[in-house]
Amino acid sequence: MALQKTLSLLLLLLLTLLGLVQPSYGQNRMYQRFLRQHVDPLATGGDDSYCNLMMHRRKMTGFHCKQFNTFIHEDIWSIRSICSTTNIQCKNGKMNCHEGVVNVTDCKETGNSRAPNCRYRSMASTRRIVIACEGNPPMPVHFDR
Ligand SMILES: *[C@@H]1O[C@H](CO)[C@@H](O)[C@H](O)[C@H]1NC(C)=O
Repeated sequence: MALQKTLSLLLLLLLTLLGLVQPSYGQNRMYQRFLRQHVDPLATGGDDSYCNLMMHRRKMTGFHCKQFNTFIHEDIWSIRSICSTTNIQCKNGKMNCHEGVVNVTDCKETGNSRAPNCRYRSMASTRRIVIACEGNPPMPVHFDR
């Protein structure tokens, strides 16, 4: 039993050294999801067909049509730099939110589409966004508004 315990500790140590187990595993998963759902630096602003295509491509139309989603058209470094601005309050009351002005496309479901054929109205603009960040260095983990 003791041997087994030692072995698992050694294995954990090895995995940690290899960088396979990180203390911020959940955080990194949230960051990856944020990238998938909200970051598209290649576009500058999209029309309805952009939303229809991207909501599908970024896997937000699987089981139901996600009703509202924002794509940010800035590179990830600019978005991450928003994390180092002054903290403000998130919608859930936590104080790990930050605001910045960026180019976005807001996609809003039309209300009469069915997954996986979700249909969206787009609204491209330069506007203030609020994102939640976590970690050290801080990384965006949630799009607040
Ligand atoms: C938005 O996009 C335009 C055109 O690509 C660019 O000139 C401008 O700097 C961008 N604005 C912001 C806030 O990034």
